Amino acid sequence: MTDQVELRKKRAGEKAVEWIEDGMTIGLGSGSTVYWTIKKLGELVNKGMKIKGVPSSIRTEGWANQFGVPLTDFQQGTELDLAIDGADEVDPSFHLIKGGGGSLVREKIVNAASKNLIIVVDESKVVSNLGEFGVPIEVVPFGWEVTERRISQMGCRSIQLRKSENEIYVSNNGNYILDCHFGYIENAMNLHAQLKQVVGVVETGLFIGMTDHVIVGKDNGVQVLR
Ligand code: 5RP
Repeated sequence: MTDQVELRKKRAGEKAVEWIEDGMTIGLGSGSTVYWTIKKLGELVNKGMKIKGVPSSIRTEGWANQFGVPLTDFQQGTELDLAIDGADEVDPSFHLIKGGGGSLVREKIVNAASKNLIIVVDESKVVSNLGEFGVPIEVVPFGWEVTERRISQMGCRSIQLRKSENEIYVSNNGNYILDCHFGYIENAMNLHAQLKQVVGVVETGLFIGMTDHVIVGKDNGVQVLR
């Protein structure tokens, strides 16, 4: 990652803390942009702000512990005031592709449990049509080959079982991820609904109608899209 891209992510990630108020419980997304949000949150906690976070990945949990952000979970009847998360693509309707980092299921659960969702991205993630990144789909390992064939028959141009260092990538939930390219996606809601009907699909990386604001880190500053 170039220094310029990192700077754009830092700008977007840090800006998001301006929406945080004392006493809030916050959904903490995943990825290198949200890293900056969590680091900044740690500074606010050190200054006395009372907040709690619900992490959407084991990696995020580690960052929160590192920076001193207190954590909670859903077992305690937690209601989330705000969730802050990254994305791999954002379209003009604020529909998203997520899951590049493999945390899409927990991210979707956390984001869906929150009253508001702010997405933090560097400007390369803002697109006019979703699709170029591909759609990460989390699937149950048992029979994943059948699930893959069913998805292939749905207009998928290429589909790959995600690997990491030549090993099959396993999500925090013990599942596999299929990275599927459908070309540009005309109707993300329909595609998501169809994919969810395939037995073996746990969740898709299409996040439709969930986002309230998008904070875009740019070379010359930061832009808030509402
Ligand atoms: C992980 C995600 C991330 O939010 C997404 O990949 C963006 O990451 P980054 O901020 O590192 O570009 O969806 O599952």
